Amino acid sequence: MDFDLPLISRHKASQKNLSDIFSPLNHFVDHSITKRHISSQIDLELGFNIKQTEEILQSKAKKLLPESQFDQWGPVLHGGAQTWIGLDFQILQTSYHDLKAMFEIIKPKAGERVIDLGAGYGRIGVFLHHFYPRSEFLGIEIVKERVDEGNRLLRTLGCHDKKLAAIDLDKMGELPEGDIFFIYDFGSVTHIKKVLEMLKHTPRRLLVVKGQIARQIMLKDEEYGEGLKVKKLEDVYIY
Ligand SMILES: C[S@@+](CC[C@H](N)C(=O)[O-])C[C@H]1O[C@@H](n2cnc3c(N)ncnc32)[C@H](O)[C@@H]1O
Repeated sequence: MDFDLPLISRHKASQKNLSDIFSPLNHFVDHSITKRHISSQIDLELGFNIKQTEEILQSKAKKLLPESQFDQWGPVLHGGAQTWIGLDFQILQTSYHDLKAMFEIIKPKAGERVIDLGAGYGRIGVFLHHFYPRSEFLGIEIVKERVDEGNRLLRTLGCHDKKLAAIDLDKMGELPEGDIFFIYDFGSVTHIKKVLEMLKHTPRRLLVVKGQIARQIMLKDEEYGEGLKVKKLEDVYIY
């Protein structure tokens, strides 16, 4: 049977209010697998069609390359960029628990614009919509299907000052204006290096970096150096 997935999920978030959906974040959780599991439940209740969208991307990639070359599925579909098609997307997103801990330190002010470089489905935008509604959000993401799904959900939630744009970061000459920039290792070492160079000349209040690749590059660069570790979180630093 053929059915319209976006239609099925359109009313999910309104059946339960957002405070209820995000209530598991009121309880402290220490383990990354549990955080990921709770995040995936929250995504389902919000009405995110992540699994379905990833399956569509995988089937497009399988037509071009066999299963044995799954690490090339992302690059073959997205002009050489590593978009990790074929991996469980929950692993690639920052959990809602970690976002809560991170933004309690960042404290975005009313009107401040948060920019996520390599934004996936724009989970950060949805999180900010509920917890910091007066902030703005722009997520830059190369995979158009992820962008479309993230924007669909944000519109469904009635959110108009937070959105995603389908852009290849490697092709940008300069970054958009923002107050708080966030990077969680994306694409490749070369792409991350290029964006970190651009960020040196981009006015901002804060740069928040997650992941070992960016961390190693920054430690070797005296303009960045150590940064400030976010307590409670494994691999998040603020510059
Ligand atoms: C690790 S995920 C991070 C998701 C999100 N920032 C979070 O923390 O939940 C990295 C994302 O970067 C995207 N990406 C990879 N190369 C890119 C590029 N050149 N331009 C824009 N996005 C890219 C991938 O498709 C993937 O969705």
